[in-house]
Amino acid sequence: MISATIMRSLSCLLLAGLATAAVSPYGQCGGKNYSGDTSCQSGYVCQYQNDYYSQCVVGSDSSSSSTSTTTKTTTSTTLSTSRTTTSSAATSTAFVGTKGLEFTIDEQPGYFAGSNSYWIGFLTNNDDVDLVFSHMKESGLRILRVWGFNDVNTIPGEGTVYYQLLKDGTATINTGTNGLQRLDYVVKSAESHGIKLIINFVNNWSDYGGIAAYVTAFGGSQTSWFTNDAAQTAYRNYIKAVISRYSSSSAIFAWELANEPRCNGCDTSVLYNWIKSTSAYIKSLDSKHLVCTGDEGFGLDVQSDGSYPYAYSEGLNFTMNLDIDDIDFGTFHLYPSSWGTTNDWGNGWVESHGAACANAGKPCLFEEYGVTSDHCSIEAPWQKTALSQEGVSGDLYWQYGDTLSTGQSPDDGNTFYYGTDEFECLVTDHVADIQSAS
Ligand SMILES: *[C@@H]1O[C@H](CO)[C@@H](O)[C@H](O)[C@H]1NC(C)=O
Ligand SMILES: *[C@@H]1O[C@H](CO)[C@@H](O)[C@H](O)[C@H]1NC(C)=O
Ligand SMILES: *[C@@H]1O[C@H](CO)[C@@H](O)[C@H](O)[C@H]1NC(C)=O
Repeated sequence: MISATIMRSLSCLLLAGLATAAVSPYGQCGGKNYSGDTSCQSGYVCQYQNDYYSQCVVGSDSSSSSTSTTTKTTTSTTLSTSRTTTSSAATSTAFVGTKGLEFTIDEQPGYFAGSNSYWIGFLTNNDDVDLVFSHMKESGLRILRVWGFNDVNTIPGEGTVYYQLLKDGTATINTGTNGLQRLDYVVKSAESHGIKLIINFVNNWSDYGGIAAYVTAFGGSQTSWFTNDAAQTAYRNYIKAVISRYSSSSAIFAWELANEPRCNGCDTSVLYNWIKSTSAYIKSLDSKHLVCTGDEGFGLDVQSDGSYPYAYSEGLNFTMNLDIDDIDFGTFHLYPSSWGTTNDWGNGWVESHGAACANAGKPCLFEEYGVTSDHCSIEAPWQKTALSQEGVSGDLYWQYGDTLSTGQSPDDGNTFYYGTDEFECLVTDHVADIQSAS
């Protein structure tokens, strides 16, 4: 353990020079027109993602030898023994559904606001989980998208949560107190607060393991993962393990195949086939909950300006994938600074996806959007566009921030916090707009 840690720090120093490591975990550290700091905090390295975006990710450079594996960024906290009793207010047990171009929550169709938190299932203090859901409930946020995966190639140190160990061709699901029991508490607390969860099963990126962690254990590559039998068997077993825990829970908004799946340079049939077969598999386990892909919305000819996100280079065809029967709604994300577009361009991106969803007769969820500064002035117009766009039935900003027992929740640069002016603008005011529009 110690030597691995030292090696990681060393390689980080070598890559970053002797400059003070500055960019936060998962923050931007490079890309066309990027002028900020290019060095990452200790334990992270700057990894190229596309021409417009490099990101600080865990560990040593992927081109270096394989001794380094995933470490976790979760703040390690002591296990709380005190359980707060959460609000006992009656919440509906109806499942989330769709009606035409709208989602239904508690059987009411409408437009819903929500957020993302990749970290909530990795917390070890139940009170912190309850705090987030009580603040969300009070604020009128209805949906939280969380990471339902946390894959490692070596077991992390005590106090660090992980969900699945992938090693030497074998997958071992961790159902212990530092494993899926942490996600159990998230679902339980969401249930008692009336919050609906989107739970995904794997990451395209290497944060919290991702496809790269499967590749380390099962071989192949990032792009062959989608058709690699051993990797897909492990992935499906994992899906089954998670779904079997919560298939009767009214707190599930949807099951999601992956966070931002891409197959760079692949024919669009690769992802199409994978989405089709995986969504059918999920419906065979649980036909009552909604299923979505979790993609960024790339590859679209509706209102396309031919820019990188509208193109098909990441192996996605939005219209074709949305047509799959077992996919209940479309997802799209928006990060102009990572994609080489302007912030204003984002409004057209929202409109074009709403139009594509309306064509398909299914709702769209504006599932992630973020900027690293001027949150209110840049993101509020996107929210207004989404709210008035037919075919878009909800939005989830990236990402939720709050003050936990350990201090502020992780800030990847895009975070804004409960109780701030930005929260007032993008949550309180937005929720009021949604209410007056309905
Ligand atoms: C995830 O996205 C990055 C950025 O495009 C890409 O380099 C990587 O290959 C992707 N992974 C997969 C499995 O497509
Ligand atoms: C995307 O899918 C749609 C619907 O199947 C199809 O009409 C279109 O030609 C596809 N575009 C590309 C570039 O594959
Ligand atoms: C990036 O920089 C180039 C050259 O300075 C400029 O023409 C272009 O508009 C910039 N792109 C963005 C998205 O700011």
